[in-house]
Amino acid sequence: MGKRLNIGLLGMGVVGSGVCQVLAEQKEAILARTGVNVQITKALASPYEDKSALAAKYGFALTNEANELFEDETIDVIVELIGKIDPAKAFISAALENKKHVVTANKDLIATHGPELLAIAEKAGVSLYYEASVGGGIPILRTLSTHYLPDTITGIFGIVNGTTNYMLTKMTEDGLTYEDALSQAQAKGFAESDPTNDVDGIDAAYKMVILTKFAFGKTISIDDVATKGIRGLAVADIKQAQTFGYEVKLIGAAQKTVDGSLTVSVGPVLVPKNHALATIQNEFNGIFIESEGIDQSMVYGPGAGSRPTATSVVADLTVLAKNKSYGIVEPFLTFEKETALATVREVPSRHYVSFSSQEIKGNALPEWFAFEQTVFNEADQRIAGITNPMSEKELTEKLATYTDAQDIQILKVMEE
Ligand code: HSE
Repeated sequence: MGKRLNIGLLGMGVVGSGVCQVLAEQKEAILARTGVNVQITKALASPYEDKSALAAKYGFALTNEANELFEDETIDVIVELIGKIDPAKAFISAALENKKHVVTANKDLIATHGPELLAIAEKAGVSLYYEASVGGGIPILRTLSTHYLPDTITGIFGIVNGTTNYMLTKMTEDGLTYEDALSQAQAKGFAESDPTNDVDGIDAAYKMVILTKFAFGKTISIDDVATKGIRGLAVADIKQAQTFGYEVKLIGAAQKTVDGSLTVSVGPVLVPKNHALATIQNEFNGIFIESEGIDQSMVYGPGAGSRPTATSVVADLTVLAKNKSYGIVEPFLTFEKETALATVREVPSRHYVSFSSQEIKGNALPEWFAFEQTVFNEADQRIAGITNPMSEKELTEKLATYTDAQDIQILKVMEE
């Protein structure tokens, strides 16, 4: 009998059932490529749904006791796909302490408790992998932790939330309302169980915490990410931005400033139509990397959904299978670097601004506006334009001297 990698599964929802399917379909290929038989042997039964049919179909046992998985000597890896912090954190800690490798897609948990869990894994001599936590099916974290080792990254930015990109696409292309677009994203299984995390940019901010660590070696918390979501983004502003030559995208960005410090942000940004990120539609994600060695590169693919995300989970399992074959234990990342953080609001950039034209204090547009184009929108009587480079802080102060409008929209403009 050849080598085996036995899995204990926690979570049989959208991604969990996808993992069952991908593993079953790829079993022979994985065996041929790693020399190891990778299989789910036991799963934690769901208190909400009867999963006996799934267990019977894929040939694994069910238990009501999570500890039975962690204490089972025949299990090598726990795959955690429950999501959120509780009870996932306790489960993963217990699994690692029992010397089980862990594979998870849980970005909330890794972004908030990653260092603590990695310390437990290191002490126990096991691996904690989480490729599927960022970018769904896109191979980004392992690419950063291997291919970029001899390079210096200066910026990593892009579309890292499938739900909001899907919503923005449907709102602009198909004229769907915000609510209908969100319902469709939920029905397709892209959204988090609480979609607030998607629409308010929190899901993307968790991913930027993880990407910042992999790209810059810097451990940050979600509070270090200047975060804005798409709630309150008017279709009129999206359309206006299009007439200026831009698409509005929810962009996560971690970038070096001229003085070498780092800004990390999530928010709606005007992306030039000829930039690769502007062409990304629906639930697809795209992450753009700027570095000294490679210059510019981009990874693109489905950022959410059952099968793509499950494939990333199985990719981590395949690495564990290879490690087992070679008798090694590999950490996911060993990159540590201290870098100062800067406030994104204080870094100069061009901005898109729109506001009600009825609340203007003067007649002529002040010189500091330096609009590329000024638009008077008859329908809702708004002025929209693009400023010269200045910090958002400076812009807000200047706007206060010019208009009393309460509905000012300020969005960053990405340079070409
Ligand atoms: N809710 C997430 C998204 C799932 O829409 O991107 C994948 O992380």
